[in-house]
Amino acid sequence: MREVVLKTAGDFAEWRSAARGLLAGGVAPEDVSWRGGGEGASLFGDAVVAAPGAAVSLPRELLEIAERVICHRDPEVPARLYRVIWRAARDRQLLARTTDAEVDWLRGADKAIRRDVHKMHAFVRFRRVGEAAGRERFAAWFEPSHRILRLTAPFFQRRFTGMDWAIVTPDARAIWQDETLTYGPGGTKDEVPDSDVVEDQWRTYYGAIFNPARVKVDAMRAEMPKKYWKNLPEAQDIAPLLAGAEARVERMRETAVSLANPLTEKWRTRVPDELALDNDVKTLDELARAVDKCKRCPLYCHATQGVAGEGPKAARIMLVGEQPGDQEDLQGRPFVGPAGQVLNEALEEAGLDRKRLFLTNAVKHFKFEPRGKRRLHQNPTTGEIDICRWWLDKERAFVQPELIVTLGASALRGVTGKSASIKSMRGAAHELEGGAKLVATIHPSFLLRMPDRTRAAEERKAFVADLIRARKLAA
Ligand code: URA
Repeated sequence: MREVVLKTAGDFAEWRSAARGLLAGGVAPEDVSWRGGGEGASLFGDAVVAAPGAAVSLPRELLEIAERVICHRDPEVPARLYRVIWRAARDRQLLARTTDAEVDWLRGADKAIRRDVHKMHAFVRFRRVGEAAGRERFAAWFEPSHRILRLTAPFFQRRFTGMDWAIVTPDARAIWQDETLTYGPGGTKDEVPDSDVVEDQWRTYYGAIFNPARVKVDAMRAEMPKKYWKNLPEAQDIAPLLAGAEARVERMRETAVSLANPLTEKWRTRVPDELALDNDVKTLDELARAVDKCKRCPLYCHATQGVAGEGPKAARIMLVGEQPGDQEDLQGRPFVGPAGQVLNEALEEAGLDRKRLFLTNAVKHFKFEPRGKRRLHQNPTTGEIDICRWWLDKERAFVQPELIVTLGASALRGVTGKSASIKSMRGAAHELEGGAKLVATIHPSFLLRMPDRTRAAEERKAFVADLIRARKLAA
């Protein structure tokens, strides 16, 4: 009986080298005993080495599967895998024999690993741990079901190339630093900070995409099993979001009823009676006061005030955002919160003077979901954007800009009245009815929500390039 002692459980190269030696030596599976672990143990109890020139050819698919399945925690895996390759070396069609018990086991184990890899890709959350040599450093703690770190690390390397990071698991750690990926020993959860600034962004993002009307609890649990929750910043919001889902759906229903299909002409013609005075606004100041009194849709009910655009009446360029955010709602001015800061910096880089631009939004009231003391942004519906176009059209008529920059999809809808993707409109100037030009770009808050710093930097560059294009077109 040969005894093989594998030094590192789950190490494909080590298992493959041993298996090759055994295969080449003609050692049958029943004559091998595989053991895992053991500090300082030699690779082979019985020094099995590959016999030169006696390499056995195996189907590529089988080797690919074996590379994944060796990560499985079942201690029988090295032996079972060897049995499969022993047979496959004699039967090239083995993998196609779906009723074969060993093939069935192999496929099942492979599926478990691929599922685990998928979960790790989705649920690793990096926390910022500092900065060194001008590069930000992040760390993540993760507990995969199997020993899959080497299978997943290249994915994170590709996605987070621009920052230094470490992923620590109980079995091993992967470290991406100085453009090099290395592996080290396993660690513990307390090596990685519990929370950081990125956390709030994840929670905000999750809250924003959570749709109470679509929630299917069983499907959600299957996709995001509870065992991962403790490392997910957004998971602490799942219970309150679920608890409040029914009430939110109810509120959505009520709102829908009071809106009475906002796209219909009936709605459009009903409101102007009450707001006939709006037709008389003669200055931008009067318009701002009228915006504040607007009751054209239910969004006014919860917002602090209506926020009209600001800037010189003779501005050549008009920038249109989506809607006021939390800070804009409180201060009554567009783009004075975090997205405004991102915008200000990009404008400066693009050589545009904010004081010479007219800044406004497609929707004039802040739409949000209260969460404790916070108010979480909610996207306006197409109906809300279309109703609010009343005001945007008036602002356009006053300012008559030569060029309009739409920031994000809601702004694009507000200006054009059509649903088009930013991607399809970006990179070229379009002519609007009335002769003004249109440049479509992303919303600055999109950059704030991107956890991948490298991608965010690229997107920001493209955003500034769009603003430069706008400046040149309006010159
Ligand atoms: N986002 C917007 O679209 N507009 C603002 O005014 C602020 C944030």
